[in-house]
Amino acid sequence: MSKRVSLTQYLVEQQRLHGHIPGQLRLLIEVVARACKRIAIAVNKGALGEVMGVAGTENVQGEVQKKLDIISNEVLIEANEWGGHLAAMASEEMDTIHTVPNRYPAGEYLLLFDPLDGSSNIEVNVSIGTIFSVLKKPHDNPDEIEPVSEADFLQPGSQQAAAGYCVYGPQSMLVLTVGDGVAMFTLDRETGSWVLTAENVKVPADTKEFAINMSNMRHWDAPVKRYVDECLAGQEGPRGKDFNMRWVASMVADVHRILTRGGIFMYPWDKREPDKPGKLRLLYEANPMSFLIEQAGGAATNGHQRILDVQPEKLHQRVSVILGSKNEVERVTAYHQEAKGG
Ligand code: AHG
Ligand code: MN
Ligand code: MN
Repeated sequence: MSKRVSLTQYLVEQQRLHGHIPGQLRLLIEVVARACKRIAIAVNKGALGEVMGVAGTENVQGEVQKKLDIISNEVLIEANEWGGHLAAMASEEMDTIHTVPNRYPAGEYLLLFDPLDGSSNIEVNVSIGTIFSVLKKPHDNPDEIEPVSEADFLQPGSQQAAAGYCVYGPQSMLVLTVGDGVAMFTLDRETGSWVLTAENVKVPADTKEFAINMSNMRHWDAPVKRYVDECLAGQEGPRGKDFNMRWVASMVADVHRILTRGGIFMYPWDKREPDKPGKLRLLYEANPMSFLIEQAGGAATNGHQRILDVQPEKLHQRVSVILGSKNEVERVTAYHQEAKGG
């Protein structure tokens, strides 16, 4: 049997080899991974665990909260509050930031998460997940302990110290970057440990598979419509090849497929709510996924700009997302440029 490498061992070895994972960051990643294990257990119980159905509340974005959205949010807060590695947290399911209570020591990191991504898939037993992003709390004066504020979270994604997701599917998998490539871990349910199952993950530059919610086609902007029309035209069209389509409606599952076999994922701006830049949230959905995709050699833009360069202005800010295989993302971005006359 080949040697099994656990998440802890992987992080310790990365630290020894490259020295870029400070102790607090390692603890943070391990705590998040442990919380994801608890969420995986709750997800797996389904109707046997009283975790199904709606919670009867709405989040700040006006979306109905499911019981599992709330449970996952609580599990992540509870697990992360007391370790001394965090200054504060922000979540899709909380209006404002959650500062670490005074009774616990405050650390130097900020954690942002989508506690349960793909909530519409809970009832139908399709893959869902947790997405997370880690930032460092900025310091004006390193000698003083400054109170943490929402503004501290408004950093471009290029500043992330780590990012990842856990997908709860036929297997539970944790996918992680600390800025040195992408590694995947599979949960061994018998021993309860995350075991390294893929390293140096690479997204192929070309693909014949796209992911978009086609039911919104009539609402799209011209560049997105042009790209998808050309894919649909197949071998006889300008691309000269047939394309396949997939849409899970859980970003974690769609991104996981792209990290595994390539593809392009799009949730673009559309005319349904013209004042919103898109559906997905920048800080805890688009940024961590863009960091992972770039670390795997792919690309991520909002059609006009690299997502990781977008300067956030609000905690729950939305963004248009085009990510995955590099050459396809560059093509869609170029179509946006051409439409602008650039
Ligand atoms: P969440 O469940 O955290 O609100 O996120 C759902 C997101 C994302 O996972 C997915 O790609 C997209 O919404 C699906 O949207 P549609 O239902 O509009 O296809
Ligand atoms: Mn989500
Ligand atoms: Mn969510």
